Amino acid sequence: MTKDLHAEQVAYWTGEGGENWLAREARLDAMIAALGERGIAAAGAQPGQAVLDIGCGTGPTTRALARIVGPGGSVTGLDLSSAMMAEAARRAGAEGLTNARFVVGDASVYPFEPGVFDLMFSRFGVMFFGDPAAAFTHLRRALKPNGRLAFLCWRSFKENPWALVPFMAGVPLLPAMPRPGPDDPGPFSFGEPERVRRILGAAGFADLRIEPVDTVVTLSGVGLDETARLAMDFGPLARAMRDVPPETREKVAGAVRHALTPHLVDGAVRLAAACWLVRAANA
Ligand SMILES: C[S@@+](CC[C@H](N)C(=O)[O-])C[C@H]1O[C@@H](n2cnc3c(N)ncnc32)[C@H](O)[C@@H]1O
Repeated sequence: MTKDLHAEQVAYWTGEGGENWLAREARLDAMIAALGERGIAAAGAQPGQAVLDIGCGTGPTTRALARIVGPGGSVTGLDLSSAMMAEAARRAGAEGLTNARFVVGDASVYPFEPGVFDLMFSRFGVMFFGDPAAAFTHLRRALKPNGRLAFLCWRSFKENPWALVPFMAGVPLLPAMPRPGPDDPGPFSFGEPERVRRILGAAGFADLRIEPVDTVVTLSGVGLDETARLAMDFGPLARAMRDVPPETREKVAGAVRHALTPHLVDGAVRLAAACWLVRAANA
């Protein structure tokens, strides 16, 4: 069961998920940039350190970490999507960063050398493992004995209006679909802090700190149509919209635009977002 759900995530991110992210990367990055900065500041990378950026996408946080660790350190960005890794390498090269490298692979099974990283970081890239305790156990083995883990993940779906508002608008127009189980991988699967504690504890991490981060994100600053499309391409609404005919898509787009209208201020749709900043140490 968990294996199939993991395979589904791998298929999604190596396929349409990765392509969609790449196509809208600038907007998505702008939406979560400040959260990433907060996470990077809390992670406390130091010059000379070796860092792993898990599920790094096109590598904005990998590049930021590479600037912090400097030429004496190194950052490995790892992601399932080869298209995103190619783009990440291109961008790091364009910035002249020689201490960032990008690797295509599944973080839950990637053959890391044991005990090599001082720090593992992720901005919203660790909630997609079919068996998260096994994945974090595997990842921890690649940390140095006193190495640290720091990541950002979303809190529950209902605490994240940026995803909830478009979903609630669109879902009545869509065929019924099974609700994801509480342990199913997905963007909101780490919403329950006790679950995060259980997973990281089972994986052998110690000194767990789980801190709420509340903010307002700009879904898009380019008007309602594009914002509605963005909302329909990501997260739970995108999943519910798979295989719907064009006329239903149009109706959903109308409903989503309508629901987002009250949140449009000066041309930008802004909605609340809630995350956990999770920190732990190799026990
Ligand atoms: C929400 S995106 C975040 C991307 C990036 N961290 C950022 O903040 O821009 C999640 C990323 O995690 C990657 N991902 C999901 N599961 C993964 C896995 N098992 N191993 C490696 N990467 C994974 C996806 O391919 C995707 O790029």
